[in-house]
Amino acid sequence: MKDRYGRVIDYLRVSVTDRCNLRCIYCMPEEGIPYIEHSAILRLEEIQKLVELIHQALNLRKIRVTGGEPLVRRGVVSLVKAISPLAETVMTTNGVLLSEFASDLRAAGLSRVNISLDSLKDDVIRKVTRRDVTLSSIERAIESAMRSGLTPVKVNCVVLKGVNTGELADMVGWAEDIGVTMRFIEHMPMTGSACSYVPGNDILKEISVDFGEVRKTATVGTADIYTTPSGIEFGLIAPVAGGMCASCTRLRLTAEGELLPCLAGGVSLDLRDMLRSGAEDLEMVKAVHELVARKPHHGACGGVSMWRIGG
Ligand code: 5AD
Ligand code: SF4
Repeated sequence: MKDRYGRVIDYLRVSVTDRCNLRCIYCMPEEGIPYIEHSAILRLEEIQKLVELIHQALNLRKIRVTGGEPLVRRGVVSLVKAISPLAETVMTTNGVLLSEFASDLRAAGLSRVNISLDSLKDDVIRKVTRRDVTLSSIERAIESAMRSGLTPVKVNCVVLKGVNTGELADMVGWAEDIGVTMRFIEHMPMTGSACSYVPGNDILKEISVDFGEVRKTATVGTADIYTTPSGIEFGLIAPVAGGMCASCTRLRLTAEGELLPCLAGGVSLDLRDMLRSGAEDLEMVKAVHELVARKPHHGACGGVSMWRIGG
């Protein structure tokens, strides 16, 4: 279905939990996280039902399973199995538990994964995640994804001034060596995160110093693809500086069953309430259509907690 601005809304991001086994500085506060009570979180069968309804309403092209960290939710593999026949199903994960689940996820119909990694230095990774994560543990996760056929693997790096600036070109080279695609993401100023923002142009400049002038060669969804003179590709996702909203085809389903047409908030639909109060399928499909019709032209980010909506 098209929204008022001609965007085809066919990409659903499903947050299966607000919990996470890491505490990345750009995403979560260190402590005092207001966890949602158990009964407020959708049961897996409820998530499945809502995804089916949203698919009925919108004919989804792609479903992304996110969190928090999706792999800390028990039963996530069976959820993937239930929804992957509907549309291409992918996952964003921090990789910590991926080696354990990669082959089961592939067998359940997951097509690929995006893995977060913000530095090649263990001390920086520890500082960013506030947990004992190392480069080699994430490399093992990437290997298991590749071995299981969850490819192409994309690696997401949130660029943080004074934290991982200075090693962006190294990350491009590292990714090329192991056969994955690097994607740099501008840091969005969200609640609970306290870091300094680096504009997309500065990210490109830093990489060009090492590799020579990079050129924009494609746009895939909300990512711009750049190519170095030697032919290495990487992605830039610039939610702050870029005109990402114009090509945004997303809807988000939170772990509590709220459907959001835009990260920036404002408009939402409480599908959990409709489902639990026994609404008819057609009534819910109609409500999804109405919500999509109200997707804002663009949003001003700032008022949301990333770990609740899955990035
Ligand atoms: N800015 C940009 N990206 C973020 N993510 C989480 N918080 C932010 C933020 N404040 C993204 C990261 C991470 C994924 C789970 O969500 O890319 O890898
Ligand atoms: Fe967890 Fe991902 Fe947020 Fe890091 S960015 S705290 S891994 S949800």
